Amino acid sequence: MKSRINELLEEVNRMAAANADELETLRIKYLSKKGQISELFNDFRNVANEEKREVGQLLNELKNKAQDKINELKDAVANSNSNTQQADLTRSADPLTLGTRHPLSLTKNEIIDIFSRIGFTIAEGPEIEDDWHVFGALNFPPEHPARDMQDTFFIEQNPDILLRTHTSSVQSRVMAEQKPPIRMLFPGRVFRNEAISYRAHCFFHQVEGLYIDKDVSFADLKQALLYFAKEMFGEDTKIRLRPSYFPFTEPSAEMDISCHICGGKGCPFCKHTGWVEILGCGMVDPNVLENCGIDSKIYSGYAFGMGVERITNLKYQVKDLRMFSENDVRFLKQFDSAY
Ligand code: PHE
Repeated sequence: MKSRINELLEEVNRMAAANADELETLRIKYLSKKGQISELFNDFRNVANEEKREVGQLLNELKNKAQDKINELKDAVANSNSNTQQADLTRSADPLTLGTRHPLSLTKNEIIDIFSRIGFTIAEGPEIEDDWHVFGALNFPPEHPARDMQDTFFIEQNPDILLRTHTSSVQSRVMAEQKPPIRMLFPGRVFRNEAISYRAHCFFHQVEGLYIDKDVSFADLKQALLYFAKEMFGEDTKIRLRPSYFPFTEPSAEMDISCHICGGKGCPFCKHTGWVEILGCGMVDPNVLENCGIDSKIYSGYAFGMGVERITNLKYQVKDLRMFSENDVRFLKQFDSAY
């Protein structure tokens, strides 16, 4: 009996299988009910009593050894299958298909990035606003046309609640809540009751800037905007400020940049003027500071507001502004950028 056990032990140690079929043959040969090891167990009752203990131990060891070996071979067969038949390790990996950011987000992020380098931080305000924060605090007279039903979306029957028409509403909130110095940007969505066309939409996006401190002058505003224009549109960009009017700034201006498509020579894009308008700005009206609890004898400041769609059009030459909200993947996929 002992020598038979040793023989089988050697056979078990030499077992090898190239595939699952060969492995199954081995299992049947040694470990099935009629297999050679099981047969030895049947013969066990003929072993002399004084040897039973030792032989029983050897028999169990043999059985465990055989089972371990079969398991080992099973793993080896499974691994070799997956390598040789299922995967070609020389193939290049499938490319990861990442989405792209929306062009308006790219522009917004770039504007934020440029101003954050000169110390501007970010705040946001609600899109559903009250009359005071959108108009009243910002020095709009009660009969001002911007409050008219034609421009403003009012909420149901309450004319005090409306969708903000500009991000300047965040100015009035921040000034009422924070003490100067304030140097902040307010990005956000705004709403106006306009017919939708390639150049106007009932919602669009703005980034507002506000700087309040002691001794802030128009020269500071001009310098910050020149820096922005050069960073956004290139070192050769020139700016031009034209006098304008906003109820909440005095003096007020609109800013043009030299057309970066023709370099200022004149082209269809700039309507042959060499200039394109990009934002409104001015010195915060003292009335607005006082409305928001800031002493206009001590503090002064500037504000500016720009349309994100407008800047995106200039930067990426998107002619139809409806493209931004139609979610056409063929359009969106073209925008790939660090922002
Ligand atoms: N709120 C103005 C608009 O929507 C832009 C603006 C902002 C002008 C800040 C001056 C100062 O047109």
